[in-house]
Amino acid sequence: KNLVIAIDGYSSCGKSTLAKALAKKLGFIYIDSGAMYRAVTLYFIRNKVDVKNPEAVTDALQHIELNFHSRDYQSHITLNGEEVSEEIRQMPVSEYVSEVSANKQVRKEMVRQQQRMGKSKNIVMDGRDIGTTVFEDAQVKFFMTADPKIRAERRYKELQSKGDTLTTLEEVFENLAHRDYADTTREESPLTRAEDAIVLDNTELTETEQLDFALNMVHQ
Ligand code: C5P
Repeated sequence: KNLVIAIDGYSSCGKSTLAKALAKKLGFIYIDSGAMYRAVTLYFIRNKVDVKNPEAVTDALQHIELNFHSRDYQSHITLNGEEVSEEIRQMPVSEYVSEVSANKQVRKEMVRQQQRMGKSKNIVMDGRDIGTTVFEDAQVKFFMTADPKIRAERRYKELQSKGDTLTTLEEVFENLAHRDYADTTREESPLTRAEDAIVLDNTELTETEQLDFALNMVHQ
C-alpha cells in the first residue's frame, strides 16, 4: 500500500518547507493543498464568481482545471494551463482565500481531487484538513504550530523577496490572524488537530532539526 504523510496546521508555520524537505528525502510526491484553494480563489476573483451563489460556484468549478508540476521539488500549479504559482501567493488571494475555502461545494471538489492524487502514490500533502478529512487513515500525521509573530515575520520576508514592497508586517500579521480564525471556526471541516497527529512547534527549531524530527517519526 502507498504511504501518505499529512501535515496540517495554521497559516505560515512552515508546513510547506517541511513537506518539501520530507518529500525530497523520501522520494515522495509533494502536494500543496493550499495552492489548490488559492488557485480556485484566483479564478473566482478574476471571473467575479459570487461565492454565495451555488449555481455560479458549480459552474465555475466545472471550468477550473488544476495541475501540479514539480521542478526540483518546488511545486508549481497551473490554473487552466496557466502557471499561477506566484500570483496565488499575493495579498489579494490571501485576503479572500479563507472565504472561498469555507464554501462546501469548493471543499467537496478539492477533497475529491486530493484523494485521487493520493490513491496509489507515496505523497506528502500539507493543508488544514488533510489528517482529519482528506486522508483520515494517513500513516503519519503532523500538526504544526509556531509563534504568530515569527510566522508573520517569515511570511513578510517571503513577500518582500518576491518584490512586494507595499504590504506591511502589520498587514501580514492581521491576515494570518484572520485566516487562522476563519479556518478554525468554519462549519465545513474546520482546522483541528487529528487525535493521532504529532504536534510540532517549530518556533525555535531550524529546518534541519524539523526534518530530523519528522524523519524519526516516519521511520518509527
Ligand atoms: O496553506 P495556505 O496558507 O497556502 O492555504 C491558504 C488557505 O487555503 C488557508 O488559509 C485555508 O483557508 C485554505 N485551505 C483549506 N484547506 C486546506 C488547505 C488550505 O481550507 N487543506
